[in-house]
Amino acid sequence: MSIQLKNIKKSFVNNKAKNTVLNKISLDINDNELVAIMGRSGAGKSTLLNIIGCLDNSDEGEYLLDGKNINEMSNSELSTIRNEKFGFIMQDFALIEDETVKHNIMLPTYFSKNKKKYDCEKIAKTLGIKKLLDTKASLLSGGEKQRTAIARALINDPKYIIADEPTGALDSKNAELIMDTIIELNKLGKTIIIVTHDENVAKKCQRIIYISDGNLKAE
Ligand SMILES: Nc1ncnc2c1ncn2[C@@H]1O[C@H](COP(=O)(O)OP(=O)(O)OP(=O)(O)O)[C@@H](O)[C@H]1O
Ligand SMILES: [Mg+2]
Repeated sequence: MSIQLKNIKKSFVNNKAKNTVLNKISLDINDNELVAIMGRSGAGKSTLLNIIGCLDNSDEGEYLLDGKNINEMSNSELSTIRNEKFGFIMQDFALIEDETVKHNIMLPTYFSKNKKKYDCEKIAKTLGIKKLLDTKASLLSGGEKQRTAIARALINDPKYIIADEPTGALDSKNAELIMDTIIELNKLGKTIIIVTHDENVAKKCQRIIYISDGNLKAE
């Protein structure tokens, strides 16, 4: 079992009112799964994804990642885990617009302690953006931006890919291309967790998990 969440609780305080977003949820995700998370806006999908990706911590409960207790880790251990184990893909691409495609893709490697060789060109070629490596990110189409973001997510060869509405800002044709790429990555062994509002995207996943009223419901 690669991701094990047990009785995870997360609340936010807004204007002194406590908003319990995740109410003791438990979730196991196996190696090489492709899982969709769905639920209405504000249900807590990004909150859950951020906890899984070690971008945020829970208030209560236990999170074991590959058998290691995340709750007991220091900030520097967590940033190493984020950098080496996770690739992140976001709805708004989160690229540095003024930098080239190549610099954007290579960004995670600048923070990595890992001294392995990174093959930016090969990844770019697989994603069909090799010709764009010297182009500024601001000049790309939405689909090209998301393929750049996927390349950046892959550059450290992470075990897990966390995608928060990766097709939300794309037209249906580009959304389908991005989803095909995600399915390919899953076939190559990546464990992928994807938040989506799109039934067509969710249907392509092995498992759909719904969040509502702080609880999870599996299909
Ligand atoms: N840092 C924060 N501080 C205060 N409240 C927050 C914070 N992050 C999230 N929330 C609240 O937690 C709830 C869940 O937010 P979250 O972003 O997880 O929803 P979501 O399911 O991803 O929604 P969407 O589909 O719109 O992206 C919302 O009510 C939101 O306002
Ligand atoms: Mg969200």
